This record gives sequence, C-alpha cells and structure tokens, in this order.
Amino acid sequence: MNTPFLIYGANGFVGAAIAHMAVQRGERPILAGRNQTKVAALAAELGLDYRVASLDDPAALDRALADVSAVLHCAGPYLYTYRPMVEACLRAGVHYLDITGEIPVYQALAEYDAQARARGVMLLPGVGFDVVPTDCLAAHLKRRLPSATRLTLAFHVDGPVGLPPGTANTMIELIPHGQLTLRRRAGRLEPGPLGGHTRTIDFGEGPVQTTLFGWGDVFMAYRSTGIPNIEDYLALPDATRGMVTIANLLRPIFALPAARELMKRTLPPGVVGSTEDERTRTRTRVWGEVVDDAGRRCVSRLHGPEAGVVWTGLAALAATRNAADGDAKPGFQTASLAYGPDFALACEGVTREDLE
Ligand SMILES: NC(=O)c1ccc[n+]([C@@H]2O[C@H](COP(=O)([O-])OP(=O)(O)OC[C@H]3O[C@@H](n4cnc5c(N)ncnc54)[C@H](OP(=O)(O)O)[C@@H]3O)[C@@H](O)[C@H]2O)c1
Repeated sequence: MNTPFLIYGANGFVGAAIAHMAVQRGERPILAGRNQTKVAALAAELGLDYRVASLDDPAALDRALADVSAVLHCAGPYLYTYRPMVEACLRAGVHYLDITGEIPVYQALAEYDAQARARGVMLLPGVGFDVVPTDCLAAHLKRRLPSATRLTLAFHVDGPVGLPPGTANTMIELIPHGQLTLRRRAGRLEPGPLGGHTRTIDFGEGPVQTTLFGWGDVFMAYRSTGIPNIEDYLALPDATRGMVTIANLLRPIFALPAARELMKRTLPPGVVGSTEDERTRTRTRVWGEVVDDAGRRCVSRLHGPEAGVVWTGLAALAATRNAADGDAKPGFQTASLAYGPDFALACEGVTREDLE
C-alpha cells in the first residue's frame, strides 16, 4: 500500500476532485499537469508533492514519471493527449490508466498492446464511470449466460448534476468521429440511426425512455466478453437528446474546429458542471441485458453514486491503487479483464442485483 502514483491533469475539474478523494482515503498521490501555478496551488491545498510537465516535452514527462509505478491520466480530450503519455509510460515502465471513454483512443491504445506486454506495462483506459460499471456488468452477464450473442447496456443519471466540463468538450470533439451513434453488429462497429433509436428500460423505479448512444462498451465490452452485438443506451434529458440528434445530423459541419468551439460556448445552462451538494443528491443506475440465440435472457442492474465525478473517482482510484501495488496485467486491458466482473463492487456504495 502507498506505492506512489501520479495524477496527470490534476488541476482539471475531475482530476482535482479525484485528488481530493484520494487524500480523503489516505492516499498521497503526486500531482502533475502543464500549468505550474494551478498544479502548485492544488498541491499546497492538499499537502502533496507535484511535478510540472507539458505533454509536448518528452524529457519533462520522463522526469515526471521517475519513481512512480502508475499514472492516472486525467487530461482530456484524450484524442489530443493520450499519445505522449502512453509513450512516456512505455519508456519508463509505468502502468498507464486513464478515464477516457473515447473509442478512437481505445483503438489507438490497443495498437500498443504488444509493446506494452514486452515492457511489462498495463494499459488500462476507461477506469472512470465510462466504462468500469458497464464493462464489469457486461462480464458479469456473460458469466451468467455464456452463450449470449446480444448485449445491451444502459444507464440513467437520476439527480441535478450537469456533465463534467471535459466530458461535454470531449463529446463535442467526438462528433466528427461518429462515436455518438456507434453500435456493434456481427462483431463490427457500425453507425446506428442518426435520429436516435429509443428503448424503454426499467432501471428499478419504473420505465424510462433511453436513446442509443455510442458508449465505450461497444469497443471495451467486446474485448471483455466477445459478444458480437452490443448497444448502449442513455436516459438523456429532452434538451440534450435534441442537441445530440442535431449534432449527429450535422456531423460533417463539426469536422470544422470553429463549429465545435461554437457549440462548446453555447451549451445551455445546467448541461455542464456540478457542486458537491448536487453530486450527493444524485444516483446512477446501470442496466444490462444479454440474450442468446435460443431466446434465453438475463438482466442485471448496478446502483451507485453520481457518475461523472464520484463513481469515476472511486473506480479510478481503486484501479490505480491496484496497479500501483503491482496488481496489473501487462498489455491492453479492460477493467473486467484486469480485475474481474466483481471489480465494480469495489466502489463504495455500489450494489448489484440479478433479475430474470
Ligand atoms: N470516464 C468517465 O466516466 C469520465 C468522467 C469524467 C471525465 N472524463 C474525462 O476526463 C477528462 C477531463 O475532464 P474534466 O472535466 O476534468 O476536464 P477539464 O476541467 O477541462 O480539465 C482538463 C484537464 O486536462 C488538462 N489538459 C487538457 N489538454 C491538455 C494538454 N494538451 N496537455 C496537458 N494538459 C491538458 C487541463 O490542463 P490546463 O488546466 O492546463 O488546461 C486540465 O487539467 C475529459 O476528457 C473527460 O471526458 C471521463
């Protein structure tokens, strides 16, 4: 216990929240980022050591990673930040973990699998809410029904919170990559309907309308379970559902950086940000279903805290602590491949129920 790990992007909205949670749990992470003033201020507030390194300075990154055993990379959008950090981790022989949900980034990181195995380094992206709970639920459902050929996952954030600012930015950055409509059919990633496909799901408190949404599971749960047909659904507020549909329909326009910047600046109030009090009043429900070709079906649910900050922080810290202590599998991993389907239950306040 207490082998040092590094949080990079520690002064961001989620990075700072995770740094606070870590200290509350008795951890002493080293904080890092590119902005000396902001990182130093947070480190002083929490009484922690810090290191400053820009991602475009490999020598500075090498110095930042000296004497640590794992990095929790919290600086996104990861489309622009994963490469220098994963390459620094491979040079230093340090386990790489991040909280991305970006499928193009998962795909790119998976390309480093052989190099990571050779270096004895674990690459474990997606250790936030996206995708620890859904990935572990997928693996649990596969365990319940090994013959499953269809997997559907969904979640519902029930409370007053908005998205973390980085999540909102990242979703906008992903529009031109077509992620928001992605699903997996017969083993291949393919776009779903642009107008949004809906499905009514009972998360435990009555039916809720959800919309098809390209969540990280269409990549990660496929690696974890091998189930060839995977869809994710989200219960979205009406305003957000409308914005997602418009964004999907106007996807070519969002290839222009100016269009993405405009959308970031014009997000309606309430879409972004949350206070600690709002997070405390928010619960998240995750639902998963597997079906096989004989029509057998299993459903399970997870119930847990607010997703974007609290559940993300709990899951990320649990995975990073494991990795820092040497509980790590070299190569590209998913949370359930590294730590098993029950890893979801390692997060405080998370419960699971099995239905039919
Ligand atoms: N898996 C999940 O469920 C989950 C949950 C929440 C968030 N996330 C992801 O986590 C990321 C951070 O979210 P957030 O709300 O904390 O965002 P944020 O408040 O905007 O913070 C972003 C952080 O990344 C740093 N950063 C950005 N680009 C960088 C670059 N090129 N080089 C070095 N540092 C860079 C920023 O540094 P400066 O302050 O110096 O600009 C800042 O520290 C996002 O990608 C988001 O999608 C995932």
